[in-house]
Amino acid sequence: MHTLFETIEKIALKIDHAIKTEDLGYCDSENSSGEDQLKLDVKSDYLIEEAFKSVPLVKDLISEEKEGVLHLHDGGKYTVCYDPLDGSSLADVNLSVGSIFGIYEGEPKGENLVASAYVVYGPRIEIVRVVKGEKPKHYRAQEGLFNFICEISLREKGKLNAPGGTQQNWCDYHKSFVDDLFAEGYRLRYSGGMVPDLHQILLKGGGIFSYPGTSDKPHGKLRQLFEVIPFAFIYEQAGGQAVDAKGKRLMELVPAHPHDTSPCFFGSTYEIERLKDAYGVKS
Ligand code: AHG
Ligand code: MN
Ligand code: MN
Repeated sequence: MHTLFETIEKIALKIDHAIKTEDLGYCDSENSSGEDQLKLDVKSDYLIEEAFKSVPLVKDLISEEKEGVLHLHDGGKYTVCYDPLDGSSLADVNLSVGSIFGIYEGEPKGENLVASAYVVYGPRIEIVRVVKGEKPKHYRAQEGLFNFICEISLREKGKLNAPGGTQQNWCDYHKSFVDDLFAEGYRLRYSGGMVPDLHQILLKGGGIFSYPGTSDKPHGKLRQLFEVIPFAFIYEQAGGQAVDAKGKRLMELVPAHPHDTSPCFFGSTYEIERLKDAYGVKS
C-alpha cells in the first residue's frame, strides 16, 4: 500500500503543477457522465494513468474520465478507481479542487475497498489517506515532501452544513432537514467541490455534506466508485457515518456500472441521525 500512497504523492505534485501552469479551457469532448471535459481533467487523467503504469501492484484503473476499465498489470492486486480532478470547473475561478482515489481488492464495490485517499489543491497541497482499521491521516506538502500533520477524528456533532444539488429540485423533506439545521445554528459551507467541502468538515470537527437525489437527478450526481465510496470510508474511519437516502451504509454499495451514482450523506453521528429521522428511515 505504501507504494500506492507514494505514487499518489508524486501524482499530486504533477497535477498541482498542471493546474498552476496549463490552459484552463474546455476540450471538445464529454466524459461518461455526459459532462464537458476540461483540458485539465484530461491532463490529470493522463498523469495518473502514466504514474500507475509503472506500479505492478495495480491490476486495473477505472477513471471518471474514461469509459471502461483500463487493464494495466496481469499480476496486480488492486483496482484503483479515481476522479482525476474533482470540482475542475472551479479551477478557472481559482477555488480549491481535488483528486480522489479508491483502492479496491477484488471486484470494485464498497465492501472491497481497502484504502482511499484524496488530494486537495488549494493554497497548499494536502493529502488525506486511510487504510482499514486506522484513523485517516492528514499530510501537507512542503518543498515537494508530504509532512504528517495529524490523525483525523470527527466529533459527535459539528457546526457546518454543506447541502449539494439544486434547491429547486430538492424534495420537501430534504428542504425541511436542511432548513432545520440552519435554524439550529449550523453555518453554510459549500464551495461546489466535494473534496474541499468534505475536507473542511473533517478538519473543523464535523457537520454534514449532502448530495441528495433530486427531481432532475433521482440517483444523485456523485459517482459511487471514485467519489462516494472512497469518502464514505474516510468518514467512517474518522468516527462519522456515510449513508444513502434509505439510511444504508454507502460502504455496502455495489455499482452495476463504473459510472453509477448514488444519493449520499457524509457527516458526524448527530447530523446523520437527524437525517435518518427526516427521511423516515431510522432503524
Ligand atoms: P467533478 O468536477 O469531478 O465532475 O465533480 C463535481 C462534483 C462535486 O465536486 C461537487 O460536490 C458537485 O459536483 C457539485 O455539484 P452541484 O454544483 O450540483 O452542487
Ligand atoms: Mn468529482
Ligand atoms: Mn472530476
